[in-house]
Amino acid sequence: MLRVAGLSKVYGQGRSVIAGVKDVAFDVKPGEFFTLLGPSGCGKTTTLRSLAGLEQPSAGEIEINGKTVFSSARDIIVPTAQRDIAMVFQSYAVWPHMTIGENVAFPLEAQRLPPAQIRKRVEDALAMVGLEGMAARPAPLLSGGQQQRVALARAIVKGAPVLLLDEPLSNLDAKLREQMRRELRELQRRIGTTAIYVTHDQEEALSLSDRIAVMQRGEIVELDTPHQLYYAPRTVFTARFIGQTDVWPSRVLGRSGEALLVESPFGQLRSHCYPETLEAAISLVVRPEHIDLAEPAPSGGSNIFHGTIAQVAFSGRLVEYLVRVAETNLRVQSTSGKLWETGATVRLRLPPERCIVVNGAAG
Ligand SMILES: Nc1ncnc2c1ncn2[C@@H]1O[C@H](COP(=O)(O)OP(=O)(O)OP(=O)(O)O)[C@@H](O)[C@H]1O
Ligand SMILES: [Mg+2]
Repeated sequence: MLRVAGLSKVYGQGRSVIAGVKDVAFDVKPGEFFTLLGPSGCGKTTTLRSLAGLEQPSAGEIEINGKTVFSSARDIIVPTAQRDIAMVFQSYAVWPHMTIGENVAFPLEAQRLPPAQIRKRVEDALAMVGLEGMAARPAPLLSGGQQQRVALARAIVKGAPVLLLDEPLSNLDAKLREQMRRELRELQRRIGTTAIYVTHDQEEALSLSDRIAVMQRGEIVELDTPHQLYYAPRTVFTARFIGQTDVWPSRVLGRSGEALLVESPFGQLRSHCYPETLEAAISLVVRPEHIDLAEPAPSGGSNIFHGTIAQVAFSGRLVEYLVRVAETNLRVQSTSGKLWETGATVRLRLPPERCIVVNGAAG
């Protein structure tokens, strides 16, 4: 449905050039919810605006719905209006001097459709976002969530096969954002459109996406399903950016069956999750929610350590501990009802399938 290859964009000239994106490539399948995720300035908006034709890339190719809309090699630049896309931005851009219906009808005006048909399509689009019967209302009287719905309705009214969304929920408060997140995903599935979504919010990306491209400094560092990125990240950057995690500089000791034996700052352990080719510098990724705490026990075994509770932070749903093991402090999150006190000795178990080895120094 959408193909991007070798996409680069440099801003400025001469000595003050800034690379917006470098050699970005990805394919998006029909009906897929695809997300560009990364910290501020990593090139998400530049990529999306290039897809939309609002930015002219320095190099690369873009194909949308079977049609090449940009190619530096073949000198092709298709204007925004002729690309099979619709867009939703961070600012809702709902026009205050119009009614809700006029706002949503706007993209259809240029198509010179009969008024009755426009009315029908506007009503349908409003119904899809839960604003049925509100076409005649003046736009300024809307809440943030309603404005965002109007912006969505305006984007879907054209029936474009590809929907581009740039942080559309970031102006909403936390609760509304979560609700709109669910609605957006449901709507996208229902109308079967392909969505390219931009966010710096990892939780939003995980809950919405079929696949996520993680970006850093203008490049895609990893592209995978939310589940893979969370349970088996392949880079230190992804491990740190998605979810909370501790990353430890480590060393490979050898192999034992399917396990990799690793020397970590808090002792030797087995990992069942590691790359096929190991580089000289490796790091161990352990998520605080994957460590089990128990009463101390005399019998050892692999991936079992003993430590002392150094800090306790209770937040209702979770208890977060800092556990002193050897010379290190391990973060542990526990949902169990059992509350350990500062100074208590505990046994920690790090399941081998949750001990993730990635190439690269912990940094
Ligand atoms: N019009 C511009 N002129 C010069 N540099 C730009 C321009 N637009 C973006 N850049 C630069 O390109 C890089 C990528 O910017 P971009 O807006 O794509 O980042 P982003 O990932 O969308 O960030 P954010 O999460 O803050 O929106 C940044 O270094 C930025 O400073
Ligand atoms: Mg941006």
